[in-house]
Amino acid sequence: MSATVTFLLDGKAIPFQDGDTVMDAALRAGEYIPHLCHNPEFTPHGSCRVCIVEVNGRHYSACTLPAAENMNVDNSSEAIMAKRRSLLQMLFVEGNHICPACEKSGACQLQAVAYYTRMLSPHFPHFFPRRSIDATHPDIIFYHNRCILCGLCERASRDVDGKNVFTISGRGMNSRVIFNSDSGKLGDSELSISDRAASICPVGAILPKSKGYQVPIGQRLYDTRPISLVGDSNIRRNDKT
Ligand code: SF4
Ligand code: FES
Repeated sequence: MSATVTFLLDGKAIPFQDGDTVMDAALRAGEYIPHLCHNPEFTPHGSCRVCIVEVNGRHYSACTLPAAENMNVDNSSEAIMAKRRSLLQMLFVEGNHICPACEKSGACQLQAVAYYTRMLSPHFPHFFPRRSIDATHPDIIFYHNRCILCGLCERASRDVDGKNVFTISGRGMNSRVIFNSDSGKLGDSELSISDRAASICPVGAILPKSKGYQVPIGQRLYDTRPISLVGDSNIRRNDKT
């Protein structure tokens, strides 16, 4: 039997297997590394950078960094938390994330990770981009204002649903999710409310219609416990909002 190989995460030994990333091994060991574009069901995307960690003075995305024996990973120093806060602040000002008016408030990973990293203000000037809402689908509404371009809907639709309903198009501030239909409208796409892509969004960009306040504010996933204990809102579960 081969010996267990480990790396150190904030001084704690984390066992890992061949092919694991630092994120894979940490989550399996019950250790939280903040993340938004990562979901253990899918291959890593490496786009949000919120999972930034430090190893030997260099910064990496934990969701794409292969685990290696004896590596010493800083996941929680104030310097790392400050970098994550800056990344989150940029995400907040690039979009229109009006938490008190959002149906996903209390079950949103962007909001929950911001609380976890003790982000108290947006810090940067808001861009207030003008972005549309697509309400053409009978069961689902899409808010471009809240999309953080994590690519999870694209991966879920392609890899699980086999439909390719979503694609991220454009560059920089002009990037947006587009829908695969002749009209370009979500309502004319093949998306179904039972698709994995319809429930994968970590923020309030893809939401079911007529269910916004079924779980009252104050009783939602992250209202009583931090995301570090609860985990992802978009992992299949019965109690998500
Ligand atoms: Fe990610 Fe949601 Fe935007 Fe899709 S709609 S890219 S899942 S934030
Ligand atoms: Fe690792 Fe987004 S969670 S880059």
